[in-house]
Amino acid sequence: HKFWELGGSKMGAAIGQGGQVANYGQDQEEAADFDLDKVAPSKPAQEASQEGAQGPGTSGAVALPQDKQAQSLQTSDQALDAREKIQQVRENLPVRQVRDELLRVIRSNQVIVVVGETGSGKTTQLTQYLREDGYTRSSTGARLLVACTQPRRVAAMSVAKRVAEEAGCPLGGTVGYAIRFEDCTSPETEIKYMTDGVLMRETLSSPDLDKYSCVVMDEAHERSLFTDVLFGVLKGVVQRRLDFKLIVTSATMDADKFSRFFGGCATFHIPGRTFEVETYFAKSVVPDFVEAAVKQALEIHLSSPPGDILIFMTGQEDITATCQLLADRIESLGEGVPELLLLPMYSQLPADLQAKIFERAKAGQRKCIVSTNIAETSLTVDGIRYVIDSGMCKLKVFNPRVGMDALRVTPVSQANANQRAGRAGRTARGFCWRMYTENQFVHELLPAQVPEIQRTNLGNVVLLLKTIGVRDLLSFDFMDPPPKENIVDSMYQLWVLGALDGAGELTALGTQMAKYPLDPPLAKMLISARELGCAEDMLTVVSMLSVPEVFYRPAERAEESDQARERFFVPESDHLTLCNVYNLSKRQGFNAGWCAKHFIHRKAVLKAHEVREQLQSMVPAPPHGVKAVSGTPAWDLVRKAICSAYFVQAARLKSITEYVNLLNGASAALHPSSAICGIGETPDYVVYHELVLTSKEYMRTVTAIDPHWLAELGPMFFSIKGHEHLGRHDIGGKMVAGADSEDGTGHGSSSSRPAAAGA
Ligand code: CDP
Ligand code: MG
Repeated sequence: HKFWELGGSKMGAAIGQGGQVANYGQDQEEAADFDLDKVAPSKPAQEASQEGAQGPGTSGAVALPQDKQAQSLQTSDQALDAREKIQQVRENLPVRQVRDELLRVIRSNQVIVVVGETGSGKTTQLTQYLREDGYTRSSTGARLLVACTQPRRVAAMSVAKRVAEEAGCPLGGTVGYAIRFEDCTSPETEIKYMTDGVLMRETLSSPDLDKYSCVVMDEAHERSLFTDVLFGVLKGVVQRRLDFKLIVTSATMDADKFSRFFGGCATFHIPGRTFEVETYFAKSVVPDFVEAAVKQALEIHLSSPPGDILIFMTGQEDITATCQLLADRIESLGEGVPELLLLPMYSQLPADLQAKIFERAKAGQRKCIVSTNIAETSLTVDGIRYVIDSGMCKLKVFNPRVGMDALRVTPVSQANANQRAGRAGRTARGFCWRMYTENQFVHELLPAQVPEIQRTNLGNVVLLLKTIGVRDLLSFDFMDPPPKENIVDSMYQLWVLGALDGAGELTALGTQMAKYPLDPPLAKMLISARELGCAEDMLTVVSMLSVPEVFYRPAERAEESDQARERFFVPESDHLTLCNVYNLSKRQGFNAGWCAKHFIHRKAVLKAHEVREQLQSMVPAPPHGVKAVSGTPAWDLVRKAICSAYFVQAARLKSITEYVNLLNGASAALHPSSAICGIGETPDYVVYHELVLTSKEYMRTVTAIDPHWLAELGPMFFSIKGHEHLGRHDIGGKMVAGADSEDGTGHGSSSSRPAAAGA
């Protein structure tokens, strides 16, 4: 264990505030996955970021994603050449050699597990083969869809783009994709790449997925949360619809397990072509994997034969640090050093920069891709001969103390490590350097990663399963059931929000909540706001919370940017401050110059605008008698609606900026960036959106509340003790079981949970 701690803390030092930072409640692949931050490897991050804020070549108009703009079919000779080349690549893929046999197996089986090495063509070819074999037409000639699910948004988009190219159609035409808040399909679409979460949502309105003839569940070995849930859900579809085909693909040997889950279904192996990979371990424990990886990469670059390098890091922070360090070292070596093309790859990177990893290096140039585990199996890059494995990745882990998911830097599993090494041997003999010892590999790494469903918050999953009529969650057909406590805990949280009743059944509110592609508390916030008549403002708040940081704060202009930010402050609420930023930016037509001047990430606000449009179409008109009001008084209602969903995260002032959580007594400080920090008097009671752990625990995105609201909205926890004087001591957490300790924990009482029978 020492190693990992050491590695983490050292890394923290090397990369500023990365390392052990845990972002509670921030969903790596969903919330943070918009292409926003521009960080070019060869420039200081801040400078590049500023460029991003100004947005070269941007106009005041609201930009459509570039891919949505129709791409005309190219007809020049050059384009024909390119298409020929693409067809040649297709012809030479391992899966091409077994295409007809595979299609025969699919014709005579309903469920097929397909196993093949990364790069054999599963993701890009299977859907096209199915289309070629007629699966996108029903017997009456109607159009049907072939779906391919991906655990990651980035993969769904980038693979769809590639397949559209191969099929010679504009993206969003015959080939399209759908991810949360973004649907790039049309009535012409026959092949649809989508995140597993989006397909899961579609089963709510169409339990038998009638539009689809086949679903390819890709990257099943990753065992993402919604892939695991879909396993159980699609098993039902297979039983109900004999014309439905389910293909499960895996890059590893979990095939038997998948096959057993589907009653011993057919398994198809794509014969692989892999080359030997020589693997080297660190001789002693590595204290700082960024530094060690940089050193190794330099050594390869300066002394090894041609071939590209792939470095596995954990996330944006250490990827940026690695690129920066490598660029500095190479610069310090002076003239005569061959060119090293540094290419970062992480989910928040803008799509155009992500696409660069697939471009071939120029003669005399060597590519060095520094990536998260997305390059492990989801994206295949040809030409890699050298792999450097930090041995770490970022994983979403449920933190029971705060009741939320956190992203944590964690050692990879042995299976991950072997996949990573395999990337070096795709086209020729390769080499892999591991930044950990053989002893650590054998004794400290798990054989395989724990499936996400067993380590994360299940709030969303429970709500969705309840909505599609699964009454008894404990006996739902999970391949690997989540721990019972996790299910019960998530049900408890939903009960607190009012989405489930005491028997564990979905309430009317819960049914409404499930309609939104949002985490349950955000959905509740929106519904409460609608009832209070302030839905318009809340739509803005929720959209702004769904995109990454909108304020931009370069290190060398920190003070200036802080001052700029303060001009947007709404003293009693960070949520309303976000609302303010959006409204003012919109009034300026999202003007690039204006955004840059005010240190606002234009792309983030634009994305929020897009999300808002999507969400707006889902909010029904306000209930009868409620008039939507706007202006200052409405903002008190917005705060109340926020409180209705976040009273579990209520805190009381202890001293200047220190607060204690009313329910568990833990202390947390106002985040220094908060609008209610230091302006005027700090409020006695607040609720917060998330906790961020750096040097200590900070509440981020905070709103002042009236303590009466706690008793009104969270009566299971709060009561008003003295009726006459309502001061800071009169509201306290209470145990639902009846104990009346001021900071008593509501979580402890099992009698307050919905009956286990309903679980
Ligand atoms: O899914 P699997 O790992 O089996 O392979 P794939 O993703 O279908 O990739 C097959 C091949 O397509 C890769 O080896 C690349 O040659 C090519 N490809 C590409 O050039 N650019 C992409 N964006 C995706 C795939
Ligand atoms: Mg694939």
